[in-house]
Amino acid sequence: TRPLKVALLGCGVVGSEVTRIITTQADDLAARIGAPIELAGIAVRRPHKVRDGVPAELLTTDATALVKRGDIDVVVEVIGGIEPVRTLITTAFEHGASVVSANKALLAADGASLHAKAVEHGVDLYYEAAVAGAIPLIRPLRESLAGDRVNRVLGIVNGTTNFILDKMDSTGAGYSEALEEATALGYAEADPTADVEGFDAAAKAAILAGIAFHTRVTIDDVHREGLTEVTAADIASARKMGCTVKMLAICERSADGRSVTARVHPAMIPLSHPLASVREAYNAVFVEAEAAGRLMFYGPGAGGAPTASAVLGDLVTACRNKLAATIGAGESAYTRLPVSPMGDV
Ligand code: NDP
Ligand code: HSE
Repeated sequence: TRPLKVALLGCGVVGSEVTRIITTQADDLAARIGAPIELAGIAVRRPHKVRDGVPAELLTTDATALVKRGDIDVVVEVIGGIEPVRTLITTAFEHGASVVSANKALLAADGASLHAKAVEHGVDLYYEAAVAGAIPLIRPLRESLAGDRVNRVLGIVNGTTNFILDKMDSTGAGYSEALEEATALGYAEADPTADVEGFDAAAKAAILAGIAFHTRVTIDDVHREGLTEVTAADIASARKMGCTVKMLAICERSADGRSVTARVHPAMIPLSHPLASVREAYNAVFVEAEAAGRLMFYGPGAGGAPTASAVLGDLVTACRNKLAATIGAGESAYTRLPVSPMGDV
């Protein structure tokens, strides 16, 4: 079977871990996909930066040329931000590549039109890594719960702010010191304002609400309050009341089922609540559905390796589907797995 050509856009915190897994687990991945992965190119800004374990001959600064090659099966986008990424993804679709992205900012701004563009070109868009790092959440909501009625999605979806609040609460660390540590550990966004002002959590809330409630929600629909107003004194008084402070994302269907709301803000949580024991950069999300009841998803919500795990899961699915489309489902080890839109758009 021919190798599946994969182009990687970005080789930072997440991209370097994606490269490591693709190169060190090549045989396992080939067995799971039914064909080997060939890393065809890696787009970066600084080609001369030393990157352990990254094949230097694959590095390029010309991301556009990479996605325009026409022989790429899957593009993995881990650059982040809106442009030039939106154009690169659209160009990849136009040239026949499916895309795996961890980019919640772009998906929350423009996910529906990106998805429509993918459909137009007969390719797929995957984004499990965009919400809650390693935790499988997008696929369970979109597929496992597709026959149920989800009424509420609530939880901690930003690792950086949870790390900061946890450090301030448990060790008495200052806000700046805790943010610096979260950045050094690879949890924070390139511009950590996205984390501490709640934009990152709001983007994730928009993506989750869109999928959970089968509607179109963008980041502009999400009420947002950041963390920057929370002081050490606030955290200490919460403690005295048997509570802790957590940054929550809350997405709800109205009682009459005719509207949805999504909001992110810091909140006091009783210490007895399961969310109070979510430490460091972990995330935890409750999903309440009519038939299923209350489900809890919990795990590492940020960082290179956990995020790469989710990216690789999507990459394997994308490659299986590409393979099935190329050689025919009858000959592939896997039949095509359906990818449904971001909500009913
Ligand atoms: P980094 O800032 O560590 O890496 C970004 C990479 O993109 C770098 O390799 C950079 O190149 C490259 N890059 C930037 N601009 C361009 C460009 N114009 N053309 C080509 N390459 C470019 O980010 P992360 O790895 O942390 O995050 C990547 C994405 O994953 C973001 O969308 C983020 O929101 C998302 N994400 C991150 C998580 C995390 O925990 N870090 C978790 C979940 C999602 P160079 O190396 O040369 O600077
Ligand atoms: N900056 C994000 C966070 C990365 O801290 O949650 C994971 O999406």
